[in-house]
Amino acid sequence: MRHHAGMLRIAPSILSADFARLGQQVQEAESAGADWLHVDVMDGHFVPAITFGVPIVASLHAVTTLPLDVHLMIEPVEPHLEAFAAAGASVITVHVEAVRDVTAVVRRIRALGVRAGLTLRPGTAESAVLPYLADVDLVLVMTVEPGKGGQPFMPEMLPRVAALAQRIRAARLPVDLEVDGGIGPANAAAVVQAGADVLVAGSAIFRSRDGIAAALRDLRARAAPA
Ligand code: DX5
Ligand code: ZN
Repeated sequence: MRHHAGMLRIAPSILSADFARLGQQVQEAESAGADWLHVDVMDGHFVPAITFGVPIVASLHAVTTLPLDVHLMIEPVEPHLEAFAAAGASVITVHVEAVRDVTAVVRRIRALGVRAGLTLRPGTAESAVLPYLADVDLVLVMTVEPGKGGQPFMPEMLPRVAALAQRIRAARLPVDLEVDGGIGPANAAAVVQAGADVLVAGSAIFRSRDGIAAALRDLRARAAPA
């Protein structure tokens, strides 16, 4: 058990939801026990795709009490932080590749009353985030190339999860370790075993044949077998 964490948290990613029925699907996930809601913002520049922005966060904030975990795949981030905070983000995670002054951006996010997360692409060396571990509230390990849902999980990122978990634990830092990309019933236990506190899952929850609620419960059961 991680020193600071209680239970594992699951953060369904709305990227794979049916946007025409978004509020309904989010409420279904909330009723089924989702812990956070992961919101993937893409700008067509930092990543090729465009998803959605501040108005969706504001609309979600009005229909759910779940913490909104905003993953910004945008560059630059600075002009948008205040608006995402005002829209109701609980966590704002930025890519180390998209930010010049990480310390200043993290400080700015926290000054807005929001928890600050830092993430990195699979191809970016861990050393890019290590200097900031004591300054952030969350580190997100990408286990796919950011940009779209439904891609296969990259098992070669498990040692990265384990290494970061070890550092966070050794220094007793109050940092959540979140993992995002390709997570489903087949690999959730391995990700938790490596030291993850928060699992993001998009297609495994919103595209499951069994429905959102059953998929969420199944993922939790597989992630932390009794
Ligand atoms: C990818 C996003 C992920 C995505 C995960 O760029 O950061 O959050 O929604 O989707 P799945 O779980 O389908 O890999
Ligand atoms: Zn994400």
